This record gives sequence, structure tokens and C-alpha cells, in this order.
Amino acid sequence: VAEPHLRDAQPRDLDSILAITNHAILHSDAIWAITPMTRDQRAAWLSDRQNAGLPVMVAVDAEDTVLGFASYGPFRPYEGYARTVEHSVYVAETARKRGVGRLLLNAMIDHATQAGMHVLIGGVTADNTASIRLHEAAGFRASGVLPQLGRKFDRWLDLVFLYRLLDTKPTEPTP
Ligand SMILES: CC(C)(COP(=O)(O)OP(=O)(O)OC[C@H]1O[C@@H](n2cnc3c(N)ncnc32)[C@H](O)[C@@H]1OP(=O)(O)O)[C@@H](O)C(=O)NCCC(=O)NCCS
Repeated sequence: VAEPHLRDAQPRDLDSILAITNHAILHSDAIWAITPMTRDQRAAWLSDRQNAGLPVMVAVDAEDTVLGFASYGPFRPYEGYARTVEHSVYVAETARKRGVGRLLLNAMIDHATQAGMHVLIGGVTADNTASIRLHEAAGFRASGVLPQLGRKFDRWLDLVFLYRLLDTKPTEPTP
């Protein structure tokens, strides 16, 4: 069986990305959205990210079927945060536990490092054990738990930030 591999997302991947996103919205609290996204919203997100030079990558199998995707963008819009980016990674339910999440997350680390970013950070629901383990295995540390920051499916959700300092050169000018 050929290993999954990564490539930049293309407009033809939109339906797969949308399906993975909306499955997570409807069936999990991995993303604190409740209303499914429209195809137009996902298309705008993809082109906005790519036009800004930000990565949106898909993991595909030998038949080019999308197994998952990952991206990062600004953490907060102020200059002082210019070298901190927030990522997300989603793997289709049928493709989990085969290393696809790890492949995508490592690609985000490599891309952000190459781009001169200093911190990669993800906000994760505190009981999302799969995501926390995945991140810790990739060198992320968990910050403290922020209680009851969100609400979905009739219960409060706690947030943990998972952050990784990247190997950027200390001599680079800031920001
Ligand atoms: C979290 C998620 C991305 C993991 O993707 P995946 O492809 O299944 O993960 P991998 O197969 O690459 O696993 C890598 C490591 O993560 C950890 N891990 C993954 N799934 C796990 C689970 N269900 N329970 C515990 N640890 C898990 C393990 O340490 C694993 O290493 P191992 O296989 O050597 O034990 C996937 O479960 C997912 O898409 N979940 C829904 C969306 C989400 O929560 N995204 C993250 C929030 S932004």
C-alpha cells in the first residue's frame, strides 16, 4: 500500500475539505462551530490563505483521495504576534490512526520554521486526547486549561493551547 503523501490544496479538493470540516462540526467538539460551512465559505478561506502565502496542505492516498488537511494562519492580528501562527489539522474519520495527522502536523512545523515563524500554536478542546497526544508526540507542550470558554452540544468546553517553539535563528530581525 502506497504511503499517504502531501501536496498543496487545490480548488478540486474543496468538496473533500468541506466534508471533513462539516463532519467535525456536526459530530465532534474538535471545532467549536455549530453551523456547517458552505462551499463558498470554504472556497474563500482557501483562496484567502493561499493568496496570503499561507499553507493549506492535503494528505492524499495513491488514488489522490483526500485523507486530511492542515493549515495555519495568524494567531492574532497585531504586529507583536507576527511570528506566532495558529494551525489546525483534520483527518477524515476513516483515515485516522494511520499516521496522517502526524504527517500533516510535521509539515506545518517544517513550513512555519522555513517561513521564519517562532511559535506554532493550536487551541484544542481539553478532552481531545487524540489531538493532545498527537501534538505532544510532535514536541508541543500543553498550556494550562482555560475553563468553559466554549459551549456546544449542551455542555461547556475547556480550551488548552498546545504550543511549540520553532528553531528560528535568534539573529533575525523582528518582527
Ligand atoms: C487528532 C487527529 C488529527 C489525529 O490524526 P490521526 O491521523 O488519527 O493521528 P496519527 O495516526 O498520525 O497519530 C499520531 C499520534 O497521535 C496520537 N493519537 C492519535 N489518535 C489517538 C487516539 N485516538 N488516542 C490516543 N492517541 C492518539 C498517538 O500518539 C499517535 O502516535 P502512535 O500511532 O505512534 O501511537 C484526528 O483524530 C482528527 O482529525 N480528529 C478530529 C479533528 C481534531 O480533533 N483535530 C485537532 C484539533 S485542531
